[in-house]
Amino acid sequence: MSTHNSSHIKRITTHILQEMKQRGEKISMITAYDFSMAGIVDTAGIDMILVGDSASNVMAGHETTLPITLDQMIYHATSVVRGVNRAFVVVDIPFGSYQGNSSEALRSAIRIMKESGAHAVKVEGGAEIKESVVRILSAGVPVMGHLGLTPQSIYKFGTYTVRAKEKEEAKKLLEDAKVLEECGCFSLVLEKIPAKLAKEVAATVKIPVIGIGAGPHVDGQVLVLHDLLGITQEFQPRFLRQYADLRGTMLKAVGEYIKDIKAKDFPNEKESY
Ligand code: KIV
Repeated sequence: MSTHNSSHIKRITTHILQEMKQRGEKISMITAYDFSMAGIVDTAGIDMILVGDSASNVMAGHETTLPITLDQMIYHATSVVRGVNRAFVVVDIPFGSYQGNSSEALRSAIRIMKESGAHAVKVEGGAEIKESVVRILSAGVPVMGHLGLTPQSIYKFGTYTVRAKEKEEAKKLLEDAKVLEECGCFSLVLEKIPAKLAKEVAATVKIPVIGIGAGPHVDGQVLVLHDLLGITQEFQPRFLRQYADLRGTMLKAVGEYIKDIKAKDFPNEKESY
């Protein structure tokens, strides 16, 4: 992949992310699902954009990430890639498009890369999806792992509470992290696990570890854009820092627009031809 685009902005690559971990520079990551938002977060200087299957929740209104399809993920990813000049774009392979069948996993990853122009894919799980991960990597597609609370398995967990608090699950998570690193994954997301365990994982593996609800001792952080902007206000987990109240701002703006129309104040003479 070229590290330069037409406007000579140095693109983030897996190599740069690795160097950031080595020199202790924290990596910033955020989700985006469309052209306009991707352009804003890229301009703000974000290092990585995740076209998360959380699009199923925040864009489509589903209760879980399970219903979103490969075609829908490709649509979101294609829109995001068009808005980005610098950030490294990772796309979630959706539920049912990679687990248990490495040929299908490879086909899904190739479709995402070829049709969207994204830079990497993300998959949820450890040793149990090793074959799929290896197959995707063998085609030269960078893979990001995702351990801890893996929302595609929500019906197995039955709850969105903190994962790997017990010794046995913590041990398996650390082993899975090593498996993913050995396979050749370039990075790893840890979701909603104790900070102490996340610290141990980040110190054990050499690849960048990005946390969400995994404490401060990892190599970077990721949040869902709509959550940190205060668009989705019903979702208030402890790990979320809300940086804006866009829902409030939007309600006020649209309310004023409606009021001006009703009052026959909009459009005025200057706003007419
Ligand atoms: O889909 C998503 O947004 C994610 C993040 C929560 C890491 O996987």
